[in-house]
Amino acid sequence: MTVDTADLYRNFATREARGHSARYEELAAAVAEDEKLLALIERLPEPKRQPNLLLAAVRFLDGPTEDPEEFRSWVIGSWDRVGATMLRRRTQTNEAGRCATLLPLLASLRGPLALIEVGASAGLCLYPDRYRYAYDDRSSFGPADSPVTLGCRTSGPVPLPERLPEVVWRAGIDLNPLDVRDADDMRWLESLVWPEQRDRADRLRNAVSVARAEPLHLVRGDLNETVRELVAQVPQGATPVVFHSAVLFYLPTEAREAFTETMRGLPAHWISNEAPAILPSVTARLPRPAPQDRAVFALALDEQPVAFTGPHGQSLDWF
Ligand SMILES: C[S@@+](CC[C@H](N)C(=O)[O-])C[C@H]1O[C@@H](n2cnc3c(N)ncnc32)[C@H](O)[C@@H]1O
Repeated sequence: MTVDTADLYRNFATREARGHSARYEELAAAVAEDEKLLALIERLPEPKRQPNLLLAAVRFLDGPTEDPEEFRSWVIGSWDRVGATMLRRRTQTNEAGRCATLLPLLASLRGPLALIEVGASAGLCLYPDRYRYAYDDRSSFGPADSPVTLGCRTSGPVPLPERLPEVVWRAGIDLNPLDVRDADDMRWLESLVWPEQRDRADRLRNAVSVARAEPLHLVRGDLNETVRELVAQVPQGATPVVFHSAVLFYLPTEAREAFTETMRGLPAHWISNEAPAILPSVTARLPRPAPQDRAVFALALDEQPVAFTGPHGQSLDWF
């Protein structure tokens, strides 16, 4: 089914940006009504027409995003560069904040842990033991010198850990791994953070500094083709844990099913943090329907759901 591009931008404005980014809401709504811009966007293959990709590309190229008229004429005049950036780049938002929702599960497993993140982007979620945590604004815990403190609101019987898990090995897989030492890659990640979300931009920069200090093994490849190989490389004595957030949505149904089968056969724990309808075995076991008034992910350990989580790690509602 082809998606109407004007509807795509209209829906983005009203359902995604509204309440989170007034600037993006205004720009996306203006694009939805602009025949010329829509015609340019429709020169791109359908998966490349996403509003997030266009808006990030314009910011990456230092285009204007304050005023819809200026935005329009700049995008039309710079379309060669804008379109090329949209073709070359992907929406690879890497949100270290998600570690706050993964941490209670990671800490509940027998360590030491070997972490493998599939769909890792730049790998910023692979450092859960290098960040500080402040659940419900209680005093924070974690390494005293960490530049990153992750706040998270909780409800329900969250098994808050007393100590951080010991991580002895970390590796990631991505179709297009981003390099924390590459200035352009990092500027792209910053461009993906919505303009008003300054806390997220600060967190991103600080998490990148953590990752730069301790580079990890990031493999380029499809998760279905590479996960088995990485699990086989886990050092003896460590507990392998494969995890992912905001990734399986990008896969067609058959590829999600293949991944599920692979994970069931691997000697590894499996932590998934995805939209509630993405993994049928998790969806079927949810103890209550997902809230309709806000976006959430379903967090599960070995296909058993344990919580709804805020998509950026901002909340953790334990079952
Ligand atoms: C929205 S980002 C999420 C990044 C990270 N998991 C996080 O939570 O911050 C999704 C990532 O999944 C990657 N991805 C999508 N499909 C993939 C596949 N089949 N194999 C490996 N990586 C994939 C994308 O390249 C992108 O970097």
